[in-house]
Amino acid sequence: MTILSKTGTVTVTLDGSNKSASLPLLEGTLGTPVADIRKLYNDLGIFTFDPGYGETASCDSKITYIDGDAGVLLYRGYPIEQLAEHSDFVEVCYLLMYGNLPNAAELAEFKKGVTYHTMVHEQIRQFFSGFRRDAHPMAIMCGVVGALAAFYHDNINMTDPRQREIAAFRLIAKMPTIAAMAYKYALGQPFVYPRNDLSYAANFLHMLNSVPAEPYVVSPVLEKAMDRILVLHADHEQNASTSTVRLAGSTGANPFACIAAGIAALWGPAHGGANEAVLKMLADIGTPDKIPQFIAEVKDKNSHTKLMGFGHRVYKNFDPRAKIMKESCHEVLAELGVKNEPLLDMAMEMERIALTDDYFVSRKLYPNVDFYSGIILKAMGIPTSMFTVIFAVARTIGWVSQWKELVEDPSQRIGRPRQIYTGAPARDYQPISNRG
Ligand code: SDX
Repeated sequence: MTILSKTGTVTVTLDGSNKSASLPLLEGTLGTPVADIRKLYNDLGIFTFDPGYGETASCDSKITYIDGDAGVLLYRGYPIEQLAEHSDFVEVCYLLMYGNLPNAAELAEFKKGVTYHTMVHEQIRQFFSGFRRDAHPMAIMCGVVGALAAFYHDNINMTDPRQREIAAFRLIAKMPTIAAMAYKYALGQPFVYPRNDLSYAANFLHMLNSVPAEPYVVSPVLEKAMDRILVLHADHEQNASTSTVRLAGSTGANPFACIAAGIAALWGPAHGGANEAVLKMLADIGTPDKIPQFIAEVKDKNSHTKLMGFGHRVYKNFDPRAKIMKESCHEVLAELGVKNEPLLDMAMEMERIALTDDYFVSRKLYPNVDFYSGIILKAMGIPTSMFTVIFAVARTIGWVSQWKELVEDPSQRIGRPRQIYTGAPARDYQPISNRG
């Protein structure tokens, strides 16, 4: 663990007793200082209570930094806006994994490392015949990615740095291949082998869209749009799925199992499943004139209806990724020659209304990364059921980088949150004859 700079202390005093604890106040490079509570139970005999860990730092990390109030997102210190503009996904993978931008030789070596793991074992193809054709592709991703561990018994000794790196290459390289297989299986089309002469994004589109019956040339517009979507979704601090991966990794579980756990957590509509939910929400509303009625429903707490693609646990300002995604939306639709996309018109009208409505403004609910990504993916011809799968393909580098950082931290221990117990007090077993 990094020796964090102690900038002071936080004194906690227990009312009605003469006991108090001095907790070190620690500061990182950027962001909110933290009170180190590791001695709190020892000094005061109490735990802290923070359901959902919204105010709790679970680790120290060098990978990604978010300033939710300022709408800032940095990957290893580089602003997401600059990376989206000037970098590409494979270079961002190197940056997230190793901490610095590569020189030409390093990038070439890394690309080779990732590229030569794109194929999956031929027997993995047989897994698919066990799934229904209409299985949700995220269910297939959970199963098949977790099953990779059954093929790499030689690659699960996580104390070996080289094995960790190969596992990382395998996961980064095979996720698009497995994702495309899930898509082809749903279509009843043959699986398409990866092509190592194509870029990461182009190869992914090739495996998703090409068919043996005719040549398929990847559109540079779609290649650039896909690459940008992957960059924007690559990592995001200790979000729910990354925290899941870290917790699984803290037990020493193999990386394939850890990433499968992350995929499962990402699937939820409150998290990575939101992009699919945004498109469903827009389709259910139907036409812009119905938006006010929907907004009224969202404001009615009893409806439990959420404005999907809005709000964020951390961003209380615009999600910088949403801004970039919105710009890309217009570019992609224009370059694809899509003159008027009703869903985009709906989304922009909804954004306009929400950003002027005090209910959302007072709750600091702004569009997040998922609000526009679905519209781009739909314009690219990708079905909504695949949206979260694409999010998972992108986030794999974030999960893998965070997992590596955890495993390589000599001070890391198994994650084991505590609780406050509110159940029945101790009581004796009663035979069924005594139970009334
Ligand atoms: C991702 O953590 C990450 O970094 C995630 C992510 C990543 O890259 O990994 O950024 C990806 O998951 C983005 C979020 C995608 N999810 C959605 O778009 C689903 C819709 N959003 C909500 O479910 C919600 O905003 C959450 C889950 C994202 C955040 O939930 P919180 O932390 O409970 O939101 P909050 O504390 O800011 O809520 C404040 C108020 C509450 O109402 P009151 O109790 O004050 O009356 O705003 C309400 C909430 O009920 N609220 C919403 C809302 N989000 C919050 N009301 C309507 N619509 C919404 N979308």
